[in-house]
Amino acid sequence: MSVHEIVLDVMLALALGVLAALVVRARGSRRAAERNVEAERALREQLSAQADALDRLLAATTGLADELDEGRLLERIAEEALALVSADCGLVLERTGNRCTVVTSAPLGQAWRPSALDAVSATDLAAELTAAYGGSVEVTPLPVPSLQAGALAVLRSPDHPFSAVERAQLRVFAAAAVRTAHNARLFTLAETLRVEAELRERERGRLSDQLLRVEEGERRRLALALHDGPQQSIAGIGLIVQAAHDTIQAGEVEEGLGSLQRALAHCKGVVGSLRTLTFALEPITLRDHGFTAAFCELAGQLSESHKVKIEVDASAIDALDRQAQVSLYRIAQEATTNAVKHAGGSRVDVTARTLEKGGIELMIADDGRGASEDELMRGGMHRGVDAMRERAWGVGGTMTFEETNGGGCTVRVIVPPRPAVEGPVPISQQLRAA
Ligand SMILES: Nc1ncnc2c1ncn2[C@@H]1O[C@H](COP(=O)(O)OP(=O)(O)OP(=O)(O)O)[C@@H](O)[C@H]1O
Ligand SMILES: [Mg+2]
Repeated sequence: MSVHEIVLDVMLALALGVLAALVVRARGSRRAAERNVEAERALREQLSAQADALDRLLAATTGLADELDEGRLLERIAEEALALVSADCGLVLERTGNRCTVVTSAPLGQAWRPSALDAVSATDLAAELTAAYGGSVEVTPLPVPSLQAGALAVLRSPDHPFSAVERAQLRVFAAAAVRTAHNARLFTLAETLRVEAELRERERGRLSDQLLRVEEGERRRLALALHDGPQQSIAGIGLIVQAAHDTIQAGEVEEGLGSLQRALAHCKGVVGSLRTLTFALEPITLRDHGFTAAFCELAGQLSESHKVKIEVDASAIDALDRQAQVSLYRIAQEATTNAVKHAGGSRVDVTARTLEKGGIELMIADDGRGASEDELMRGGMHRGVDAMRERAWGVGGTMTFEETNGGGCTVRVIVPPRPAVEGPVPISQQLRAA
């Protein structure tokens, strides 16, 4: 073989080698391209499945968001969880001690419901449910405020076990459900507070009207008392003095002096009745010496006339402003009068103390027969209880009736801390201003 032929063979062999390498390379890149297409398709499917899962999760959580009734919300949680993972059954359970019971189920009324299960943990519960149901079970904690150790369970046939994605969906859904339940609780609380505030406002309006009526009535009674009593008596005295004057002028001095004596006696009577009226309006001792002195005076009179022992320990009230002292005096007066009039006991204790957070607590406790709700709500001509409540309200306080330890009735009045007043305002001035 010539050199020329050898060179040709080598070149041919080289060309064949290069060609083979090119063919192998071309095959490799086609396979890689095919693999890329496959990976891209798998990725697309995965993304679409994730988007689908997110869509379902979003639908399930927004399905709960507008439910603010706590009872109905639990039903919705079971329904939405069922729809979220296409389960056969959704259960909301509560664990008390080591017993688990179904609170609600979906589909409502048709779902499989086990009787109470023994379970101290979520794992126990899942095992118990699996054994009882005989299918796939997923249990997620559901710490909503209305349940004790709440749990959400979804059940499906054994040939459809729950995937990792579905389990994650259920966990996120349960967390959203718990947040909604807290919102519902806050809403219920706000609603209760709103209704309470409305009722209080209505009660305030009613008491305010009543207070105006009582004041109006008191003014009218006062006008009548002045008209029928002192005014008539003074007019009568005037006539007697006129007659005495005429008689003396006519020279009948003895007879005239007799008339003047009669006028003097009438005068004493009028002064007496005016004193009683003044005391009823403003006990002088209360104005000059404060609550304790005035109330001890009154207690002494009541104790003597009704043969009941009355103990007073209420000096804490003496430090209050005049208006509060007058109101508490009137309340204690009515409660003590009620006790001696209606209770049939042998003892009344009137005590007051300063509360730790400020304000005063006044208690009038008797050891009598006690009073029923109906009696205390009697109303009509019986105005004492209402008047006490109005007076307590008038100084920003409250009044309640309670049973005394061992029987009897206790009137408890709480007056909140009072704003400081600039110097004492005489009670007479307050009454004139009213
Ligand atoms: N301490 C008490 N023990 C037993 N019953 C009481 C006591 N306080 C009140 N009651 C009952 O409650 C009812 C209502 O009391 P309230 O003070 O409103 O009316 P009253 O005393 O009958 O009349 P008023 O006070 O208008 O002169 C009384 O009639 C009585 O039956
Ligand atoms: Mg009374």
